[in-house]
Amino acid sequence: RNAFGDIGVKMCNTLLPLACTACLAFVLLAGLGCLDNLAAPDKPALPATLNWGASSDSSSDGEAVEATRLSVSNATLDDLRSRLKAFKFVEPVENSGFEYGFNGAFMKQLVSHWLNKYNWRVWEDRLNSFPNYFTRIEGLKVHFMHLKPSKKGVKKRVPLLILHGWPGSVFEFYKLIPLLTTPDTDGLAFEVVAPSIPGYGWSEAAKKRGFSAAACARVFDKLMVRLGYRQYYIQAGDFGSVIGHVMPRLFPERVLGFHTNMPAQPVRQPSIMIQTILGSFLPEGVLFNRLDCGKLFPTWRSSATRFEMGLAAYIIEKFSVWTLPGNLFAENGNLVGLKATFSLDELLTNVMIYWTTGSITSSMRLYKESFGSDMEATSAYQSMPSDVPYGVTCLAHELSRVPERFVRVTNPNLLHYADFDHGGHFAAFELPDLMNSEVRAFVRAAEKFHAEKRPNKFEGVKSEL
Ligand SMILES: *[C@@H]1O[C@H](CO)[C@@H](O)[C@H](O)[C@H]1NC(C)=O
Repeated sequence: RNAFGDIGVKMCNTLLPLACTACLAFVLLAGLGCLDNLAAPDKPALPATLNWGASSDSSSDGEAVEATRLSVSNATLDDLRSRLKAFKFVEPVENSGFEYGFNGAFMKQLVSHWLNKYNWRVWEDRLNSFPNYFTRIEGLKVHFMHLKPSKKGVKKRVPLLILHGWPGSVFEFYKLIPLLTTPDTDGLAFEVVAPSIPGYGWSEAAKKRGFSAAACARVFDKLMVRLGYRQYYIQAGDFGSVIGHVMPRLFPERVLGFHTNMPAQPVRQPSIMIQTILGSFLPEGVLFNRLDCGKLFPTWRSSATRFEMGLAAYIIEKFSVWTLPGNLFAENGNLVGLKATFSLDELLTNVMIYWTTGSITSSMRLYKESFGSDMEATSAYQSMPSDVPYGVTCLAHELSRVPERFVRVTNPNLLHYADFDHGGHFAAFELPDLMNSEVRAFVRAAEKFHAEKRPNKFEGVKSEL
């Protein structure tokens, strides 16, 4: 062999593996798109049960919608008072925040506020300042608030279903609702429907097994149809968002658009799975920029502070730590004082809704039904492509943050995606003004999309209620 041959062999030895790797990477990446299509899950079958009421109860649904006044008996309030008076103080660890569970000193302060300053009747009146209704759907008594914009200045009314999550309630929307029903400078205002998820607050819990996010999606679509809305938008966070992700996939002809502050990670898309795995080894800037790295591989994770100190501790700890992770280490969970995001009255009102309706246990069943045996279906809905307009508001401390390019894989008509450097999990409750403008920005984009793409499909609002 001559010298030239030697060089050739050396070059082959170094270049060949490189070239092979490059080719392989190329084929892999090109193949991923096809894989995504092949792996896109089919639409799961809906739960066969059409009556979630007790087996012994044979009454049928009917179409009746009844106005109601939310009311708690004096006996319930008296009973609560005596329980609060019996509260036994547990000395907290020195210089601790919420790391050891709900801080004992703060618990004492909270109980004192609850007993001496908090007045449920004031908040009950506020809840009743919104029109509340009941209707029976699939054997369940479903509670909802239904608000129409005032006539003045309204040029366009758009129906909007807003869905709360866990451990929240319709109360999370009490500041956002009046903003949504007020016309903006273009005269756009929303007709808002805010139901309590069955098993939460005033909506009856399913008596039978299997009431999953998909079952709930069907109930809420029936609610909108019953109210006369042939087409509608959805805004949701937390568990409402899990339900919300099902709705455009089940009812694409009726859902005009879905805006969420908790996007779903479409984990069953191979391209996303592979990028996520690779990204966890690679430094920032190779596969993902800094912002996306923060969304996918957060260094801080909700720690397991699940020390039970009663319903209030259980629920309020979530409102603290899911709003700002650092609150775990802050005195009083950063829940009192000038910097506090929510007032103690607001936090207690949400707790009161769970307490007076006794719904914390039934509320948690939705996790079992949606992420237990029905996990397959729930994740299928989150990974199924949908061409219904989609909008995402990505707040800094949201529990589930998904990069824009991942969101686009399953939502080709992503019309709005906005990042914010602040804000937590309970977006509507914490930042009503921001959420109002976010929902409006999304709906404006979606209305434009419908006018251009599907001029004959949009039928607007029809509600006679
Ligand atoms: C509670 O008691 C007050 C005072 O006796 C009474 O005025 C009110 O009607 C009662 N409320 C309910 C819901 O029973």
